Amino acid sequence: MNNQSITKEILNWYDNNKRILPWRKHLTKKQKQYFTLVSEIMLQQTQVKTVIPYFNNFIKKIPNLRALAKINDQKLMKCWEGLGYYSRARNLKKTAKIIIKEFNENLPDNIDQLKSLPGIGDYTSTAIMAIAFNKKFIPLDGNVERILKRIFYLKTEKEISKDHLHKKKSFFGKSNRSSDYAQAIMEIGALICKPSNPLCFECPISKNCIAYKKKDFDIKSKNKFNQVKYFEADIYKIENKYLLIKNNKFNFLKNLLIFPMREINQKKFKSSFNKRINIKMSNMDMKISINKKNKKVNLSNSFLIDKINIKNYILPSFTKKILKSVVKY
Ligand code: ADE
Repeated sequence: MNNQSITKEILNWYDNNKRILPWRKHLTKKQKQYFTLVSEIMLQQTQVKTVIPYFNNFIKKIPNLRALAKINDQKLMKCWEGLGYYSRARNLKKTAKIIIKEFNENLPDNIDQLKSLPGIGDYTSTAIMAIAFNKKFIPLDGNVERILKRIFYLKTEKEISKDHLHKKKSFFGKSNRSSDYAQAIMEIGALICKPSNPLCFECPISKNCIAYKKKDFDIKSKNKFNQVKYFEADIYKIENKYLLIKNNKFNFLKNLLIFPMREINQKKFKSSFNKRINIKMSNMDMKISINKKNKKVNLSNSFLIDKINIKNYILPSFTKKILKSVVKY
């Protein structure tokens, strides 16, 4: 197949198989820009099916850029609660303010200006150029990387480097329907060229795929070993209330409510008799020793929260997991 027929086959597949997603509805130009910005930021570290309810709620509560620039931080965080990587929400608000002040309320349709905005890097700027502005860009997300690795059977470290993968995108050629085309390629990655058990019989480009010919679908990725880190968390339970503090100590979960905790070494962790739990966060495998305490303390920035009123607080999943583990015993 040549470039042109590849483009045609991919778009044809997309027209017949695309998911109905809230940011793919018929929208005004302004809405298209805003919906693309919000959805692509949410999709940076999160799968489509997780993002959908968060996106719908976000748009209901914060329907446009002006509302986003003015939203109170508590309300913004409530909309993001449970989605993780909270700096995305803070950057989104900063970006809305800059767009209003410096770009006359229009999301810029220039890749360098987009990249200058907080929280918008290579992937998101390219996705916005293609999806919101129909420019001839193809974002290189995890889905697109996987397709290219299989089509060209890329295995070595050099072959799977970002630079090389960007070059290999020329396989897809270009389309006048750039917005649909970018989404179509990512969609094939998400629905057909899945990490395991890819659905090659439904794939519009399997004829061009070396992995398919060789029946070897294994994907090589850069070793992103999770770092193991050890922590000790103090659980102060005072008259059925739990003590939490606003985190200004760790780089993760900044300004959110966590149990008082500290990083400890492996030896100290292993020698304690406390209950232990494991939580994966960002690129960390956290091993947490749970230290139950019953005495009163005075800690700055602390809050006593009642399990019954938990809905009224903005708690990261991290804190909820620890809470769940202590309430049981
Ligand atoms: N399909 C799969 N991932 C997508 C994304 N990030 N944006 C639009 N469509 C997609």
